[in-house]
Amino acid sequence: MQPKDTLKIIRPDDWHLHVRSGEMLKSVIGMTAAQMGRAIIMPNLTPPVSNAAQAKQYYQEIMNALPADTGFTPLMVLYLTDNTTPKQIQTALDGKLVVAAKLYPAGATTNSDDGVTDVKNIYPALEKMQQLGMPLLVHGEVTDAKIDIFDREAVFIEQILSKVIEDLPDLKIVFEHITTKEAVDFVLSSGDNVAATITPHHLLANRNDMLVGGIKPHYFCLPILKRENPHQRALLSAATSGNPKFFIGTDSAPHAKSDKESSCGCAGVLSANCAIELYATAFESEDALDKLEGFASIFGADFYGLPHNTETITLKKQDWIVPNSYPFADTVVVPFMAGKMLSWKFLVKD
Ligand code: DOR
Ligand code: ZN
Repeated sequence: MQPKDTLKIIRPDDWHLHVRSGEMLKSVIGMTAAQMGRAIIMPNLTPPVSNAAQAKQYYQEIMNALPADTGFTPLMVLYLTDNTTPKQIQTALDGKLVVAAKLYPAGATTNSDDGVTDVKNIYPALEKMQQLGMPLLVHGEVTDAKIDIFDREAVFIEQILSKVIEDLPDLKIVFEHITTKEAVDFVLSSGDNVAATITPHHLLANRNDMLVGGIKPHYFCLPILKRENPHQRALLSAATSGNPKFFIGTDSAPHAKSDKESSCGCAGVLSANCAIELYATAFESEDALDKLEGFASIFGADFYGLPHNTETITLKKQDWIVPNSYPFADTVVVPFMAGKMLSWKFLVKD
C-alpha cells in the first residue's frame, strides 16, 4: 500500500501534444519533458509536417531545445493532406521517427487549412497504414458550416468515422480528444483497433465553466467543451473505468494570451505545465486514483505497441496554486486553471 499522501506511478506519456516551433517550442517543451517519457507531437505547424524529411527536422528542433538528460522522446506524426501517397507513409515509417499519421478535416481547427477535404482522397494512404499497422489519429469533427459546433463530433462519427472503419476494418485508429457520450459509446462498440484519448480539460470542465458568468476565452478549445450531462460524465467514467481503449492525451495547445483574449480568440488550452496533476485531480474526484497508472502510463503504450517507461514519478498531496501565466516566446501564455488550487503536485521522477 502506498501512503495516501503520495502517488507513485510508472512515468506517463502524452499521446496528444502541441509544442509549436521556434521560441514558443523552447518555452513549453520542458514542461512535458519533466513529467512524460514520450509524447505524440502534433504536426499542425505552418507549413504542416507532412513528409518524413519535415518530421526529422522537427524532431531535431525538439531535441535541440531540451537538455540532454530528460530521457524524453518525441514521437513524430505525419499530417495527412489530399496528396499524401502510400509511398510517403512507407518512407515516414522507415525513418523510425514517425509513428502515426493525423487526419485533420480541412478547416476543422488551428492550422488545418492543408487538411483533408474528402476522406476518400486519403484512402490509398490509409490502406497502406492498415497494412503496416500504423495508427491513424483522427480529429473527429465535421466542418460543414450548417452543422452546429456542439454536434460536430457526433455527426463525424455518423458520416465519416463509421464508414472509414467499415471500409478499413483493421486500421488502427485513435479517436483524439473525445468530448461526447456518443464518442465514448462508439469506441466501446468498436473493435480493439479503435481507442481514444481524453484531455484533462474535457474531464475537469464543461461548457458552463466557459460561458456562465462571462465568457472565459482560456476554456475555448476544439472540440468545444460540452454539457456536464451526459458528456463530461461519460468521459469521466470512461477514463476511470480501467478499459485500455481510453488513455491520456492532453491536447496541451499553447497560444499567446493576447491571441486568446481577442475578438476572435484561438482555440487551445495549455495543460502541459501540470498535466499529471490535472488528471490526478479528475481521477480523485471519481475516487479512482488506483486507475490513473493504467490510463496515464500503460494503455497508450500498449496500443502503440511500445514498451512501458522504466522510470517512475511521484505525486504528493499538497495544495498549490496554478500560476497565472508562463513566459511564451516574447509574450505569455495562460495555463488551464490559472489561479486555481490543485491538491496534487508533481514531486519527482526517478
Ligand atoms: O483546441 C485545440 N487546439 N484543438 C485543436 O484541435 C488544435 C489545437 C491547437 O493546435 O491549438
Ligand atoms: Zn490537438
